Amino acid sequence: MKVYLETYGCQMNEYDSELIRSILAPHGHEITMAVEEAEVVLINTCAIRENAHRKIYGRLDMLRPLKKEKERFVVGVLGCMAQNLKEELFDHPVVNLIVGPDSYRSLPKLIDEVIGTDRQEIEAYLSEYETYSDIAPTRVEGVNAWVAIMRGCDNFCTFCVVPYTRGRERSRSIENILSEVRSLAEKGYRQVTLLGQNVNSYRDEGAGFADLILKAADVPGIERVRFTSPHPKDFPRPLLEAIASHPNICKHIHLPVQAGSDRILDLMARTYTRKEYLRLVEEIRRLIPGIALTTDLIVGFPTETEDDFQETAGLYKDCRFDSAYIFKYSERKGTIASRKYPDDVPPEVKTDRIVRLIDLQRAISLEKNRAKIGRALEVMIDGEAERRPGHQMGKTEGNTTVVFPRTAFGPGATVSVQIDDVSSNTLYGRPVER
Ligand code: 5AD
Ligand code: SF4
Repeated sequence: MKVYLETYGCQMNEYDSELIRSILAPHGHEITMAVEEAEVVLINTCAIRENAHRKIYGRLDMLRPLKKEKERFVVGVLGCMAQNLKEELFDHPVVNLIVGPDSYRSLPKLIDEVIGTDRQEIEAYLSEYETYSDIAPTRVEGVNAWVAIMRGCDNFCTFCVVPYTRGRERSRSIENILSEVRSLAEKGYRQVTLLGQNVNSYRDEGAGFADLILKAADVPGIERVRFTSPHPKDFPRPLLEAIASHPNICKHIHLPVQAGSDRILDLMARTYTRKEYLRLVEEIRRLIPGIALTTDLIVGFPTETEDDFQETAGLYKDCRFDSAYIFKYSERKGTIASRKYPDDVPPEVKTDRIVRLIDLQRAISLEKNRAKIGRALEVMIDGEAERRPGHQMGKTEGNTTVVFPRTAFGPGATVSVQIDDVSSNTLYGRPVER
């Protein structure tokens, strides 16, 4: 059968879609890029914020004409929204298959059961063990390969749906992950990004995440290792030492802060204070000078006052992040916050706060980028620059995009680029001799 597979959400979902491709292939299913010719449409969904939901319902609406037209047509909702909403999704007339993140091995069987029938099937139980570690993902070619080192999350931040959609935390074994990284290097990937909801709680017998990342960085052929995300509450010193000492581990940490007021941090159950976070940032910068720091932040969490927000803005100015993802709080079904704290910050207040914070971040990012003018930075080439003919683009160690005139080298090569001009999110320069 021809399968059209679409992915929303985070890198973990991208990785899962690569697993799904590998699960479907041995059953004779073929991936198509054209939705009109598909007999099976699978949408791998995200549940993290309301707009993720809205996008997916919009997508399902667009499939209505195809559903009417075709006799054999399966529409499956996979991923976090499938797990979070379960049967509720059958309310949408095009949906006849619902499969959660731990149930992908059943996909071929479920597709066979529903194709050409009026049946609806759902499989959305959470597993304590499933890591799909025996399945090699079918990746799209590129420079970077995502590698999930663990699944699930045990943190239960009060705003977050992930512990309910992805279940309990479980780690893959170091040996299993390293053999995947070795085979990626042999296939020509130059960068791997290790993924987990909280990589700092990675465990394999006595070993932790620092042991794993050092070994991954030692794999011949792998030139850059990235990871996302660590939780600030249990940031281990050995991990900082690993990043500082190993030239192949990118000097970049994505360290979600979520809020800058102790009262809100407590309501979010983040289990650190503003002061502890600032102390960690200071330690990181002392041990790894020049490191890029990025973050995630939520405005408008229930009961957030202007004073709370000012504390967040203040922390922001103190930390001077290289960049940040800033979100308006959105209540998610099943979370602790949805049960305990009414979503009481008016939408216009959320909008006002997010705009102020984005402006602040833009100014900081621009200032930090300006300081790079005149410097030569190591850039790993991703490929052609989409919007600048004759130019290539790539990433610095800190994960900032750099655009420069085309070189003789292709994706995966590292070149030295002297920075001449900047915007708040892109650097522009020319290749120079190393
Ligand atoms: N509302 C808004 N933002 C959220 N995030 C997670 N849950 C919510 C929510 N309910 C944000 C957090 C997280 C990022 C992936 O998404 O900042 O780090
Ligand atoms: Fe990824 Fe979380 Fe969205 Fe699931 S809910 S796709 S884990 S961001």
